[in-house]
Amino acid sequence: MTFNIAVVGATGAVGQEMLRMLEVRNFPVKKIYPFASSRSKGKKILFKNQEYEVIELTKENVKKYSKDIQLALFSAGASVSKEYAPIFAEDGIFVVDNSSAWRMEPEIPLVVPEVNPHTLAKDKKIIANPNCSTIQMVVVLAPIHKVAKIKRIIVSTYQSTSGAGGKAMLELYEESKAVLSKLSEESLISKDNSNFLVEKKQPSVFPVQIGFNLIPQIDIFLQNLYTKEEMKMVNETKKILEDESIKISAQCVRVPVFRAHSESVWIETEKKVSVQQAKEILASAKGVKVLDDPFNQDASLRYPTPIEATSKQITYVGRIREDLSCENGLVMWIVSDNLLKGAALNAVEILEELLYRKII
Ligand code: A2P
Repeated sequence: MTFNIAVVGATGAVGQEMLRMLEVRNFPVKKIYPFASSRSKGKKILFKNQEYEVIELTKENVKKYSKDIQLALFSAGASVSKEYAPIFAEDGIFVVDNSSAWRMEPEIPLVVPEVNPHTLAKDKKIIANPNCSTIQMVVVLAPIHKVAKIKRIIVSTYQSTSGAGGKAMLELYEESKAVLSKLSEESLISKDNSNFLVEKKQPSVFPVQIGFNLIPQIDIFLQNLYTKEEMKMVNETKKILEDESIKISAQCVRVPVFRAHSESVWIETEKKVSVQQAKEILASAKGVKVLDDPFNQDASLRYPTPIEATSKQITYVGRIREDLSCENGLVMWIVSDNLLKGAALNAVEILEELLYRKII
């Protein structure tokens, strides 16, 4: 059995990885239908050495091709998903949507295949792919939650620019280049910030300079003074773990890294879990690799880093230790490629799960 698959947002950072994941994981694809905006009209997309012309996303074009399409992967932003996912779904197409448009709708499954694949069903045509930071956190925390029940999570993220799309990566590149071109060894230490500051080009993706800087804002601010990204982590984690009682607080920070998100995570559990037990639980957790050997001579084996995690189809966890501030607490460091497990890989794994469960 092979499938015709639409990729909506095929020219974007995540869309490109979706195509690559379908290819490298050998998903049974017959034909690709790459959709993007009118800006990409005429562009060509390469899939399995075959060229496909980008199709402009319009209602007419969806209706024209939908009879031939069985599955769709969406990563073109929430407004596109809100408008177009139902149009695909009403024609019987399973849509895995990477945006935030549908995630918190009670009837829509929000799926991390290692954690809650049972929520997939034949009549649930729209499936939400969770937020990148949430996915990598729950893949690691779910097996601990199962054994010891997590009562509280505190998380601080260090999120790469690719999470905000291809243009955001370019902004980091250009700003870093501009800073380096005006700096010299002698000017590293100066009396003010003028040597590190570059003029912000407009329009820009980030509100302030990302090159050689940190931005404690991802997405917009809400009335409760948290950002939308932070509240996504709170609400989506509860939905995926199917436990509204967990207390969660998050702080999300954009860092000048191109790919892979990192997270410092503090958890408090009902039952005591020792560091050794946690390592054992995580060593057998699907999709997770423990990289935790602080005294290793080789620093690359001591803990995971974003550069190490880039392009890897795995979520790494290291720096596992007791939280000194409470009875049953653990601290850990979680790193994963946000474009892969945080987006494209998780989406393709959802398709694999649909196949495995004979839903498609
Ligand atoms: P396009 O390249 O034609 O702008 P990224 O996350 O890297 O910024 O990519 C966003 C993806 O979503 C791109 O493929 C982009 O296509 C696509 N996209 C954005 N807006 C629309 C839209 N209104 N209709 C269709 N595709 C869109």
